[in-house]
Amino acid sequence: LRSSGSNSAKTLSRRPIGVFDSGLGGLTVVREIRRQLPHESVVYFGDIARLPYGIKSKQQILSFSIQNTLFLLKKKIKALVIACNSSSSAAFPFLKNHFNLAVVDVIQPAAEEAVKISNGSRIGVIATQATIQSGSYEKAIKKRNPKARIFSSACPLFVPLVEEGWLNHPITDEIIEHYLQPLRKQRIDTLILGCTHYPLLKERIRKIMKNGIPIVDSAQPTVRQLASLLEKKAISYPSNHKGSLKIFVSDLPRNFKRIGERFLGEKLHNLEIVREK
Ligand code: DGL
Repeated sequence: LRSSGSNSAKTLSRRPIGVFDSGLGGLTVVREIRRQLPHESVVYFGDIARLPYGIKSKQQILSFSIQNTLFLLKKKIKALVIACNSSSSAAFPFLKNHFNLAVVDVIQPAAEEAVKISNGSRIGVIATQATIQSGSYEKAIKKRNPKARIFSSACPLFVPLVEEGWLNHPITDEIIEHYLQPLRKQRIDTLILGCTHYPLLKERIRKIMKNGIPIVDSAQPTVRQLASLLEKKAISYPSNHKGSLKIFVSDLPRNFKRIGERFLGEKLHNLEIVREK
């Protein structure tokens, strides 16, 4: 497999960070990179043509994730963020072990954060079917606190609702209630939003849960972990320039602009479509 080779830390430091997701939801992580690490440049790949990953098999998601990584390596990235929970579940160990590259996923940092702030070790996880079925949050949490109890719920309708922009719609509230009621009954004390799309529903979820428990979304802890990894490897951007953002997508659906800008929190510029990777 291709790798970043034996480049010195000095050469690597000026290169961009590669980020991929099954679609545009991973832009919530890019938004956080731009907030926490404004000097870093980012190359993003959103595999919109093959979205959703969250209902596909592990083999399929792994294969897409490898292709996405190979594409980003061609852009000479210095580090990779797997900004998709379904890909992190299916591909993180593989990508970390087979590419000579600093790799960060979204599951380990969110699990770590949840274990740190939970005060009763009853942790709820909501995510796509692929992520829940993989048991990856369970493993990541148990590794850090073997006594923790994990209560999970797959919420397959959240992704299309967010894409449709129904963030404050009564139907969305009803569906949130439906998915989260069993977790509330289990008296969870912390909730992990284990999918790139869910941060956009965070305030509604908070309201409907009514119990004031902390809600962890992976963007902030993931970027904190990325920052410390860059530092550890001495490949943080060496000066104060303003980082650039280049976005590649494998398709441009009709409503991509509206959806993308909602995730990114700024105007979408510098967008390019790649049909053949
Ligand atoms: N990016 C996916 C995730 O975080 C959600 C969308 C999809 O199913 O592809 O799991």
